Amino acid sequence: MSKVELRNIDKYFGKFHAIQGVDLTINKGELIVFVGPSGCGKSTMLRLISGLEDISGGELLIDEQIANNWMPVQRKVAMVFQSYALYPNMTVSQNIAFGLQQAKLPKAEIATRVAEASATLKLDELLGRRPSQLSGGQSQRVAIGRAIVRDPSIFLFDEPLSNLDAELRVHMRVELVALHQRIKKTMIYVTHDQVEAMTMAERIVVLNAGRIEQVGTPLELYNAPKNEFVAVFLGSPKMNILTEISRNGNEITLPGGRISVSDEAMATHSVKIKVGLRPEHIVLGNPETMPLRGRVRLVEQLGSESFIYVELSPEQTIVVRKSGQDAPNPGEIVGAGHLPECSYIFDAATGICMKSNDGNRGGYEKTHWKNQP
Ligand SMILES: Nc1ncnc2c1ncn2[C@@H]1O[C@H](COP(=O)(O)OP(=O)(O)OP(=O)(O)O)[C@@H](O)[C@H]1O
Ligand SMILES: [Mg+2]
Repeated sequence: MSKVELRNIDKYFGKFHAIQGVDLTINKGELIVFVGPSGCGKSTMLRLISGLEDISGGELLIDEQIANNWMPVQRKVAMVFQSYALYPNMTVSQNIAFGLQQAKLPKAEIATRVAEASATLKLDELLGRRPSQLSGGQSQRVAIGRAIVRDPSIFLFDEPLSNLDAELRVHMRVELVALHQRIKKTMIYVTHDQVEAMTMAERIVVLNAGRIEQVGTPLELYNAPKNEFVAVFLGSPKMNILTEISRNGNEITLPGGRISVSDEAMATHSVKIKVGLRPEHIVLGNPETMPLRGRVRLVEQLGSESFIYVELSPEQTIVVRKSGQDAPNPGEIVGAGHLPECSYIFDAATGICMKSNDGNRGGYEKTHWKNQP
């Protein structure tokens, strides 16, 4: 396993500045996830680390040595892509062994490595099959097997689960985390799926338009995002963002009503703000007594919980997450509120987060609102 350091890394494609001064240290043995919207530069970052793409500026260090000009093989990386491109005329076993045969490893060594990878990935029963006889998840395991046998110092995964159906993705992401715990290799995993990032990562790197927005553990980013982009990107359903209409002291008028924010949060800024409310932090209740009021547009029942869409104004609908199946009916007028300490506050102009959540408060079961129906 290796340590990887990016120091002020730039990448230009012609005039297009795809990666813009990225600084990042990836620790030995860490499972780090790059997440961000399409086109933000996730694959480019992996390709720069793997050596498939030249670095335009800055330094890449692998185990404290400048590696900008190292050949891909010197970097000891193995990459697994979304499209796993197995050789159709070879068996699973031959597919896994192929790279090692090309590298002219002794036969016995190849056999040992294939057997180990096969045991790790539970491929023993499949070794004699051809790719056309495998499911998507099995094919992806073979692709990972091909990477493992090379005994790389760094694994690079570029959306390896995107082609799989939802159930298989969940299964494979658990398997990948378990694999990481077993082999403890440095792994850099790219996805645009925030759920994958939250569930798999030891640390998440949120990328946006070629820059890093924030780096931290999943809960650090969820509870204390640096800005609105990170706040809205992580979490499903997304955080509700309500823009201030007017203010009187620490009373903020929002679409659908007025809320109070703590003096402390307001003291530091005179600019217009946005209030962020996570769906699980909002409670519904009596419209006469709760700070916000709106009409229920839609209720999504998931069995264990319900997502309730409440229209506060023609332009502003919020989503509320409620545990259980008990929910108001579409058309009903409801009140909505939250504990002040659960809200997030952003500078409306810059998106910078001025107040976040400590993560321990305001689960949807907790409420201090009285007169709930
Ligand atoms: N070879 C190239 N030539 C020109 N522009 C490129 C090249 N490769 C990538 N880009 C551009 O660089 C930006 C980042 O691309 P990249 O493939 O890294 O995005 P991504 O985050 O992996 O997106 P996705 O989630 O869609 O895979 C995009 O705007 C893309 O169009
Ligand atoms: Mg990509």
